[in-house]
Amino acid sequence: MRPVRHLLEVDDLTAAELSAVLELASEPSPSRVLEGRGMALLFEKPSARTRHSMEMAVVQLGGHPVSLAGGEVGIDRRESAEDIIRTLACYHAAIGARVFDHSLVERMAAVSPVPVVNMLSDQAHPLQAIGDLLTVAQEFGQVSGCRIAFVGDANNVSRSLSIGAGMAGAEFVFSGPVGYRFNNADLERISAAGGTAEVADDPVQAVADAHVVYTDVWVSMGEEDQAPEKMEAFAGYTVDEALMAHAAPGAIFLHCLPARPGLEATPEVLYGPQSRIWQQAENRMHAARGLLAFLLGMT
Ligand code: CP
Ligand code: NVA
Repeated sequence: MRPVRHLLEVDDLTAAELSAVLELASEPSPSRVLEGRGMALLFEKPSARTRHSMEMAVVQLGGHPVSLAGGEVGIDRRESAEDIIRTLACYHAAIGARVFDHSLVERMAAVSPVPVVNMLSDQAHPLQAIGDLLTVAQEFGQVSGCRIAFVGDANNVSRSLSIGAGMAGAEFVFSGPVGYRFNNADLERISAAGGTAEVADDPVQAVADAHVVYTDVWVSMGEEDQAPEKMEAFAGYTVDEALMAHAAPGAIFLHCLPARPGLEATPEVLYGPQSRIWQQAENRMHAARGLLAFLLGMT
């Protein structure tokens, strides 16, 4: 029997597998690999896009999604995370988890007899990155050769995107304040994935000739206590029309959402002609379907 495959970060796939997932994501009628089976979706923190895109992807694959809040099952309070996963695996063909601490999703994967998909942790958001690569491919015909500039925080979203971009042959450049940049372990992982993470002090330099300008909130879920210092540190990193003017002709703007208009991006950019945020949100569902078709088609 083949070992169970999990997706905790994009590089749990090989570059060829990522490419296969992106192809499956574009397949409108994939085989119903979840027919008569369920997928448990466990959320320790709020979600709009991830919950709905995952639930609909499961339905499109013939399955039945069951979403539940962390508090409902009492992770490590009512029962250990390990026993919750062993229990859910009695009923479900796969398990998705959105957690505060990445080590929790690692603990879940370590004992799970069915695939575990990271639906966002403090470290990684692989489903977002896969959806974003799909959006880039739709817009530019391919991801390879595109220059993706991320302006903001070296967080879960930018980390997964930098890894996925490298695997898909895109150039990735990051601009954010000192103290909120990738650490050496991140840079080594990006490099191992075949990517680069050029760091530009000046956002203008990062965005120059970029095909994609991407940002995310400055204060992620679970970091609310850091809000005052982060607001101060990120002043000057707002993506506005003046910054977008430095990007390549035909450049697009992406944001994983939810957004704080006026902070990380102005409303003119978020809702302007270069923005593809709704296409990007829709692609979360196609990417989730492609990934699940890949993971479950293997078992
Ligand atoms: N982008 C994203 O993951 O959105 P949600 O937090 O609403 O799921
Ligand atoms: N970095 C954000 C992404 C939300 C989808 C957060 O973790 O809150």
